[in-house]
Amino acid sequence: MNKAAKLGHNFTGAQMSPEDTRKMVEYVGERPADMPGDASALAQAREQMNREEGAVGSVPIPGSVKGMLKSTFDKLLGNSPELLIDKLGERLAFERTGVRLYEALIAKAGACATGSELIPTLKQIRDDEEAHMFLLIDALESLGADPTAQTPCADLAGVVGSGALKVITDPRTNLAQALNAMLTVELTDNAAWEMLIKLTDDGGHANIGSSFTHALTEEQRHLNTIRSLLARELGVSGH
Ligand SMILES: [Fe+2]
Repeated sequence: MNKAAKLGHNFTGAQMSPEDTRKMVEYVGERPADMPGDASALAQAREQMNREEGAVGSVPIPGSVKGMLKSTFDKLLGNSPELLIDKLGERLAFERTGVRLYEALIAKAGACATGSELIPTLKQIRDDEEAHMFLLIDALESLGADPTAQTPCADLAGVVGSGALKVITDPRTNLAQALNAMLTVELTDNAAWEMLIKLTDDGGHANIGSSFTHALTEEQRHLNTIRSLLARELGVSGH
């Protein structure tokens, strides 16, 4: 596996062929797009559709509160219980994907000359992500929610994470490129845990919030580790 991208026959830049580029610009001038409207029409259409379209799925009603009045439900689970369940479901989906991402990263490190020494560190992080996943399962169950349900935000977390998943599982990417994708994941993870702790506290679930504090500390460690492993791979001084 290459440590860094190499110089090669990359023809994507316009400077590769100034004459062809000039002809292409000329052609676009002669034959503009035949679709009516411009960028403002597109923005307008998007705005209109955003107003008209429904939501991405729904939050399942916890089995334990089925048949209860909404007000009783709120009283039992705190303010905006749907939001809390949705966001807990999101973190659960993210941590589950995190386990798979680290497993893919471990395989990449194993294939790389400089990567094998990173494996114990990456395995530790993988295990932390798995433990966080179970922590979230417990939290959802304590609220009477079904941890196997895919909430709307869980669905969207999967869509957002699919880019990192593609980069890390692509056998052509090198370790630095995969670590770069993982840095995005860990930055998001840190911000999201902070937000979730505030949300649980605000919802009157301080016990859940305090059980998450340790997870946040571990996520901060993950972020620092990935940041310095990436710097090392890139040969950035001071690492
Ligand atoms: Fe993490």
